[in-house]
Amino acid sequence: MSSLRNKRLILGLSGGIAAYKAAELCRLFIKAGAEVKVVMTEGAQAFITPMTLQALSGQRVHTSLLDAEAEAAMGHIELARWADLIVVAPASASFIARLAKGDASDLLSALCLARRGPLAIAPAMNQAMWGNAATAANLDTLRQRGIALWGPDSGAQACGDVGLGRLLEPAALLALAEGCFESGVLAGLTLTLTAGPTREALDPVRYLSNHSSGKMGYALAEAAVQAGASVTLISGPTALAVPERLRFVPVESAAEMLRACQEYPADIFIGVAAVADYRPAENVPYKIKKEQEMLSLNLLRNPDILATIAASSPKPFCVGFAAETHDLAQYARAKLRSKNLDLIFANDAAATFGSDEAEVLAFWNDGELRLERASKTQLARGMIRLIGELLARRA
Ligand code: C5P
Repeated sequence: MSSLRNKRLILGLSGGIAAYKAAELCRLFIKAGAEVKVVMTEGAQAFITPMTLQALSGQRVHTSLLDAEAEAAMGHIELARWADLIVVAPASASFIARLAKGDASDLLSALCLARRGPLAIAPAMNQAMWGNAATAANLDTLRQRGIALWGPDSGAQACGDVGLGRLLEPAALLALAEGCFESGVLAGLTLTLTAGPTREALDPVRYLSNHSSGKMGYALAEAAVQAGASVTLISGPTALAVPERLRFVPVESAAEMLRACQEYPADIFIGVAAVADYRPAENVPYKIKKEQEMLSLNLLRNPDILATIAASSPKPFCVGFAAETHDLAQYARAKLRSKNLDLIFANDAAATFGSDEAEVLAFWNDGELRLERASKTQLARGMIRLIGELLARRA
């Protein structure tokens, strides 16, 4: 069940082409069980009509500060008091400037000024506007006032530019909003997890490795932080940004990863890394030349990090992953037993690698659960919730 169920959200839209994405965000909020009131600036209405948001939210859309009828029904101060959370998506450069100044000349700015609860803004603008010193200074002001900044994303923009300034995708915004109401199921616990691939050096320029974007592990690390755990993320090389509010330990090889895991013992251990099963028996200190037609490599089996940690004392609550192409349940249950795990998540390897979405089956000693297809961020929250529940049952 989503943590947004029965929560009162104000979804504010300011002007920008990304306003069309707010329609999908509104739909996701409603689907998650939230009550949503939409507030649109004049700029937003140039891009998407209030009728669209009214149909999706099931409520009249608020657009004007000086509308006597709307003020009589629910004034801007009442509206601000009503909300458990205000999310402004998209937040334009102009809206951000008004907010930083404390300007209350339109309904959305006024109710942000009058709010009592948390406010999050999801910026969306051209990359040059995002990079401008004026915008940066306004954002610093908002950060200092405790306003959450969600995004922006980087990539191709509607104007043809490429760079930072895209609105985060609706699914990512939904997950961030859910994070505001998570109950801290892992509060007071330590958690260590491995993520990404390992690299096993053949010589100074070559290595053996596995496919792994690291997305699932990083999403789990972030969900664990949001659930109140003290997190150590031990990561092989990935292209991802280092998440905030955790200890980050970068490693390359399986041997280094194992050492780091032993250095940071925790209450909960999650092995998400795609550890290379073998490493070259020899790591030659010079570049191997391609003189011979056939090159044979001698490989040595790498230690199983997860099984090693599960055999340590005191044993943490151990969670593993099984990426399989067939007979998912059978292989996952076998791994649960052979590695002495408390919980295992199984997924279809082909459908998950590199993707932003996944679905998994969870197996533990006397139970199982299907976590439906969702973004890896949302899925990670579900996994952390399940870990919290199983730990609570054990206690
Ligand atoms: O045995 P298999 O590689 O399928 O097991 C996958 C699980 O074990 C994952 O949780 C992975 O992170 C972990 N693992 C490990 N060390 C290894 C191999 C796998 O921690 N050498």
